[in-house]
Amino acid sequence: MSKKKKIYMAGAGGMLGEAFYKIFKDEFDLKCTDIDVNEDWLSYLDFRDYEAYRKDVKKFKTGYLFHIGAFTDLEYCEKNQDETYRTNTLAVENAVYIANELDIPLLYISTAGIFDGQKDTYDDWDQPNPLGYYARSKYAGEVFVTQNCSRYLICRAGWMMGAGPKKDKKFIQKIMAQIKEGKKELLVVDDKLGTPTYTLDFARNVKLLLEMEYWGLYNMVCAGITGRFEVAAELLKVLGLQKEIKLTAVSSDYFKEIYFAARPASERLVDKKLDLRNLNIMRDWKLCLKEYIRDYYKGYLKKK
Ligand SMILES: NC(=O)c1ccc[n+]([C@@H]2O[C@H](COP(=O)([O-])OP(=O)(O)OC[C@H]3O[C@@H](n4cnc5c(N)ncnc54)[C@H](OP(=O)(O)O)[C@@H]3O)[C@@H](O)[C@H]2O)c1
Repeated sequence: MSKKKKIYMAGAGGMLGEAFYKIFKDEFDLKCTDIDVNEDWLSYLDFRDYEAYRKDVKKFKTGYLFHIGAFTDLEYCEKNQDETYRTNTLAVENAVYIANELDIPLLYISTAGIFDGQKDTYDDWDQPNPLGYYARSKYAGEVFVTQNCSRYLICRAGWMMGAGPKKDKKFIQKIMAQIKEGKKELLVVDDKLGTPTYTLDFARNVKLLLEMEYWGLYNMVCAGITGRFEVAAELLKVLGLQKEIKLTAVSSDYFKEIYFAARPASERLVDKKLDLRNLNIMRDWKLCLKEYIRDYYKGYLKKK
């Protein structure tokens, strides 16, 4: 009989789930579920279905519940508000009920996007003021967890990068896809500030908090201060393409038809609480970007 502690991971089929699986699988017994069963280590569970969720978690006799998944496409969330609240907020309430009933700690993943961007940087105690429906739904999840869950970790991620071309739906993959298409000029906004968050670092830092049992709410982004334009420039540098591809700065207005959801001008987090507890193992974003491209994009630009 295995003596390993068990973790139930819900919504683990995406970018972050890939990292959680990798980082936790050797030391814990995992049950990973998602509505998109895209790996052989995943099984089907729709966490909006409270009874099915409760039954599945109880059956696994788990020591922890990680509620990872959400709808993360901001434009989809603007257009499908009820579905967004059902998925990103009510399902989190389901997770809280289950964790409380089983008397186990809950992990919920929140986002830097819950702030309004009026400040340059935000620490763990700054007051959120979400602008769009994705951010509202995620913040509502945070509030419910903090007010109702007995033992929890809420970890706020920034601009996620991880899992490679198959699963990365965000900025790095969007730029990489344009480079692969053969674009010689990239238009990138220079009025959006934030912090990249490497999924593997994030999963490692969550593991550390779990081991220490320091429950509560934490900002958890990579080290360094930056914005979209600098991230794109650094990516070209990592790829050695800074001479071949021109980077042109545009304002967010340029993309307002495609990216119509409101986004804060700054969603830069500082990991103040992790720093003060001396538990911040998030590395510098430039180092993580380099490692991410090396480990997940080998040969990608050459493949047809
Ligand atoms: N991506 C970011 O930049 C970012 C930044 C900050 C915080 N976060 C948060 O980090 C967490 C993980 O996000 P991620 O980047 O890994 O996103 P992701 O790649 O989109 O993965 C989320 C997964 O959840 C699944 N899911 C959606 N609805 C579900 C449901 N009802 N039941 C079960 N699974 C469901 C998704 O399936 P489908 O693909 O079929 O929808 C997807 O496989 C989320 O809570 C997100 O809000 C993300």
